[in-house]
Formats: sequence, C-alpha cells, structure tokens
Amino acid sequence: MSTPEDSPTVSSASPAAPLTFDEAERIMWADSGVGYEAVYAGLCAHTVPDLLDLAAVRADTALLDVGTGTGTVARAAVARGAKVTAIDAEPTMLDLARAKVPEAEFHLATVPDLPFDPATFDAVVGNFVLNHFGKPRSALAALCSTAKPGGRVAFTVWPAEPPAGRALFPRAAEITEGWVPSAFPAIEQADNFPRTEAGLADLLGEAGLEDVRTTVVDWEHQTTVDEWWISIGSGIAGSGRAYLAQKPEVRARFRQSYLKVAAELSAGDGTMRLPYRAILGAGTVTG
Ligand SMILES: C[S@@+](CC[C@H](N)C(=O)[O-])C[C@H]1O[C@@H](n2cnc3c(N)ncnc32)[C@H](O)[C@@H]1O
Repeated sequence: MSTPEDSPTVSSASPAAPLTFDEAERIMWADSGVGYEAVYAGLCAHTVPDLLDLAAVRADTALLDVGTGTGTVARAAVARGAKVTAIDAEPTMLDLARAKVPEAEFHLATVPDLPFDPATFDAVVGNFVLNHFGKPRSALAALCSTAKPGGRVAFTVWPAEPPAGRALFPRAAEITEGWVPSAFPAIEQADNFPRTEAGLADLLGEAGLEDVRTTVVDWEHQTTVDEWWISIGSGIAGSGRAYLAQKPEVRARFRQSYLKVAAELSAGDGTMRLPYRAILGAGTVTG
C-alpha cells in the first residue's frame, strides 16, 4: 500500500539491524528542507485551504500544525489570523519554516512525543503527515489529547490508487532494468489503515472523534520536467532516496525512463501538468 514517496528506501547495503518504519522516516527526511521546499512544498500546498476549513481555523484559533515541513500550512493559518504552533522532526525543515513564518512558534518534536499539555489547542492539523507515522493510531491518540474538547482535528493523506502524477516515479522505476526496490520497512499491516475515504473515516472514528467528515481533493500540479527531477537528483522523499541508492548505471537508465514517462504528461515544451488526488478527513474531539 505504501508508494515510493511514502517509504524510505536504501540500497542493498542497508544496515544489518532492521530499522523501524519511524526510524527509517527520520533518515528519509534528514537534510531534506531545501529540496523539499523547491519541489514538494508547492505540490502539498494545494490541499491547505480545504484542510484549514475542515479544521475550522479562523482568527484567534490556537492551532497545532503537525509535521509542518517548511511551514506552508502554518503560513496560511497565520494569514487567517490563527495563533500557530508547529512541530516537525526534521531540523532543516524547521529552519526554513521559521524564516518563512516568523509569527508562528516552532518546536523540534517527533510525534507521539509532544511537548504540550493536554487540551492546549483549538485545532490540530497535519498535511500529508499521517501517512508518515509507523503507528498511526497511537500518533493520532497523542495528537487528539493536545486538542481541547470540541476542538477539530484534520489530516490529509495520499490515496491507495495513485493518479498519474503520483505514479510517475514508480512507473519509471518499474521499467528501469536493474532497479533495486526499497529495503526499508513498509508500515506493519497490523498498524496500517486503508488509504481510502472510508479507511480514514474509520481511523478517526476509532480515535474517538465525533462528527467525522471526509472529502477528496483533485488537482493538477503545474511543473516542468526539469523541476520535477530536482526531487530525484537531490534525494528527496522515498523516490529520491531510492534513486540515490542505485548503482550509477541504473541511475542513468532511470533518468531515461523518467524522461519517457514524463513525456506522456508533458505539453511538449517541457511543462507538465501532474494529476494528483488527496483524501481529507476531520473530526471533533469529545469532552
Ligand atoms: C510530506 S512532508 C509534509 C510537510 C508539510 N505538512 C507540507 O504540507 O508541506 C512530511 C513532514 O512530516 C514530518 N514528519 C514525519 N513524521 C513525523 C513525526 N513522527 N513527527 C513530526 N514530524 C514528522 C517530516 O519531517 C516532514 O517534514
């Protein structure tokens, strides 16, 4: 169920001791701030208005933005007049977020270990973060406990069925001779949840949230063949890590595979419109 963008990846020379999913996540995002901001921050920004609406974020809302990355959600919430606190586990993400959103308060923290008292926030949101927790249920429990009774909790996740934009790198890997798939762990099946609207609704319901609502957002992300390659060349997220772990000759073949698949999505002038889809879900913390 996980995809190359979800799952950290290493070469066959990966460490002998098996990594947990969460340990692998720390490695996957290490030093990724600048590359993430260059490519994926813009992609992930498309869902932010709907996410903040679902969490009822408005002026004076005390908001926790979880896995803030380079601060896209934090900045949009500040623009609504919210009082924003944000956390991320990766210092290079926070460096950029702090510079971008000086009005918000940022903490280096890793879910589920949160430096907040219970019932601190009016709303808690995470944009494409729930899919990066190895234990989503315990992560969700910790996050819900930081929200006040009546507070809204809202997340976005990638769906199980990837649209053409999200499928681009996996398709290129599939047709690349000698490509070594991920040696890092996928989420344990027992901890996983279906990446569908129903699956997210059930997860939020199991966490004790009421008034659970889900929706789907579709968009086309405008980029170029060269810009999209930056994430690969800089080793960003699962696909980029996987690429860096390949032998040089396999990397060269992957580049050709990428250009072939990208051509199908390109207008012929180097620009691309990548179809993407996200699942959004939200609920209310009970008293
Ligand atoms: C796909 S990025 C999303 C960033 C941001 N929300 C956005 O919309 O651009 C995922 C982020 O979650 C962070 N992250 C992943 N697992 C985390 C955890 N357990 N605790 C805190 N941050 C985490 C990563 O470091 C990364 O910055």
